[in-house]
Amino acid sequence: MAIAPRPGEVDTSLQDLARRHLWMHFSRMGSYNGDNEIPIIVRGDGCYVYDERGKRYLDGLSALFCVNAGHGRTELGEAAARQVEELDFYTLWSYAHPRAIELAARIATLAPGDLNRVFFTSGGSEAVESALKLARNYHRICGKGQKHKVIAREIAYHGTSLGALSATGITDLRSQFEPLTPGGCHVPNTNVYRWPKDRHPLWAATAIEERILFEGPETVAAVILEPVQNAGGCFVPPDGYFERVREICDRYDVLMISDEVICAWGRLGHYFGCERFGYVPDIITVAKALTSAYAPMGAMIASDRVAEPFLEGDASFAHGFTFAGHPLASALAMANLDIFEKEDLCGHVRAKESEFRQMLETLHELPIVGDVRGAGYFHAVELVKDKETKETFDDEESEDLLRGFLSAELYHRGLICRADDRGDPVVQLAPPLIADTEQFEEIHDVLHDVLSAAWERVKR
Ligand SMILES: Cc1ncc(COP(=O)(O)O)c(C=O)c1O
Repeated sequence: MAIAPRPGEVDTSLQDLARRHLWMHFSRMGSYNGDNEIPIIVRGDGCYVYDERGKRYLDGLSALFCVNAGHGRTELGEAAARQVEELDFYTLWSYAHPRAIELAARIATLAPGDLNRVFFTSGGSEAVESALKLARNYHRICGKGQKHKVIAREIAYHGTSLGALSATGITDLRSQFEPLTPGGCHVPNTNVYRWPKDRHPLWAATAIEERILFEGPETVAAVILEPVQNAGGCFVPPDGYFERVREICDRYDVLMISDEVICAWGRLGHYFGCERFGYVPDIITVAKALTSAYAPMGAMIASDRVAEPFLEGDASFAHGFTFAGHPLASALAMANLDIFEKEDLCGHVRAKESEFRQMLETLHELPIVGDVRGAGYFHAVELVKDKETKETFDDEESEDLLRGFLSAELYHRGLICRADDRGDPVVQLAPPLIADTEQFEEIHDVLHDVLSAAWERVKR
């Protein structure tokens, strides 16, 4: 609990220390002044977290798509403690240790097709960075060293390191750090809500082929896409999209990377998002909920075909991170996957996702709700000025709607979710996979009230 300092005393409350010393990520630090406090989360339990004053919030975003098994799992803490007693740390640089080996084998068993080789990282950007470097290196080792470009989709987020950022398709994030790693090319995403009615469902897949041909297939190393694209608001693929992308990648000897930093580990009701849509990529990138974020960890999972050239003679993938595959994180990932199995969290999402979806669909009665889309426990509600014409808000209106009202109001009402305008304005929901009817109703009630109030504020 924050206690105000007496006159003359130095303020050492968490609020004050945070304001003076903590550099928050992707945050407008200057906006935390006067009465506008930094939200400080101090405790978690199941689908809920608590702030420093003890106020409870429904974590409708699983702490940024991370805590899929829910907060406060003491069995995960116990697994971590056991691991520290046995082996605190050893690196994977020329050594191995039991937990990383067991986890790699377990991930290989769960992964589709022949994706059997697991390269650990410390997070999602590192996983994407590794995948992009592997794609280049694979082609080079196969004698096609000119293949270096990556094709990604507009508005997609693939991380912040300079290589991953070259795949990220959000202009505002890219332009301020240019020049980026060369070779990032962008194609349309599957925002079908904004497509003309008569557009062919495989138009966006064809755009990938056209771009490969435009760039020259001999220069293209990989295509990277999420099963459901997060940024822009949970864009789902039209039927047949991934099948077609797979064909295109095979035709031009381009590696298909499925970036599942969000979509793996049950978010779409399967261990891997690609299973939901029936495709087998060459590389999968994961992070976040691999440990339910009880420790930082990511991984790049490669197919036998892609890994093979690196397993022979004196070849090696000259790439690595000190902390990758950390024993503590590996032990937590194993214990996390035990929970997934014991409680059948993927099955729970598949059983409950239509109820979750129907609850969100009822918000269509509000004039500000233009679209509800997503899959599993990963949905977005797109906000519009005019339902009939789908007219969206301009930058200023969007700023006022999201940052001037919605984000603060939703939080104030005890719901953590994401009000985002990297594309058109959306509210995104991704609760822990243990969420059930009670949480759906709570989400509905808050969203209904807050979106109604938002409409009163913006209507002309
Ligand atoms: C699809 C995708 N790829 C990569 C990343 C980057 O992961 P990290 O923030 O762990 O570096 C994210 C982060 O949200 C993501 O959603």
